[in-house]
Amino acid sequence: MSSKNAQVSYGIRKAKESDLPAIMTFDERSNKGSNPRYWQEMFARYGDEESKQLFLVCEEGPEIVGFIIGEVRDWEFGSHPCGWIFALGVRPDVRLGGIATQLYDAMCDFFKTAGVTKVRTMVYRKNHDFHSFFRSQGMMAGPFVQLERDL
Ligand SMILES: CC(C)(COP(=O)(O)OP(=O)(O)OC[C@H]1O[C@@H](n2cnc3c(N)ncnc32)[C@H](O)[C@@H]1OP(=O)(O)O)[C@@H](O)C(=O)NCCC(=O)NCCS
Repeated sequence: MSSKNAQVSYGIRKAKESDLPAIMTFDERSNKGSNPRYWQEMFARYGDEESKQLFLVCEEGPEIVGFIIGEVRDWEFGSHPCGWIFALGVRPDVRLGGIATQLYDAMCDFFKTAGVTKVRTMVYRKNHDFHSFFRSQGMMAGPFVQLERDL
């Protein structure tokens, strides 16, 4: 696949366990104290060959510069089957170069192949990067409302 920047060539492929250390160097949750076990669990859960789950990375030459994780979920909360994007990140020094768009497009292709016609995600209210990105992909507020309380 080609990038927006014609001089840089990116490749999208399924994640391997050996990609996890590179992902942890730029995943912002890791910088805030998340740990390798979290990523091992994510890989164990989403990195296999299951038909409803996908963990992709973007590489520039030998370097991992982005990742995305998604899954088709059936009938939760009374919803028709749909694709959920759970995690997405791009290395800070290569942002705004179209990498997340390529990962998102590849994930949407996977969802369509799996037979669903809707993609969803959940974004922290104050995360402006994610709001701008998902808006740029045409995503808008949906019919569900998240509720919560302290326990
Ligand atoms: C959100 C994120 C994945 C976007 O990755 P990216 O590769 O830079 O995105 P793209 O280059 O594909 O952007 C596509 C469009 O999204 C919009 N966009 C993306 N990031 C934006 C930003 N910071 N500000 C404004 N618009 C933005 C733009 O419209 C852009 O199109 P343009 O370049 O033609 O203007 C990346 O900024 C990121 O990883 N952020 C940190 C995420 C985070 O907070 N993680 C921790 C919590 S889970």
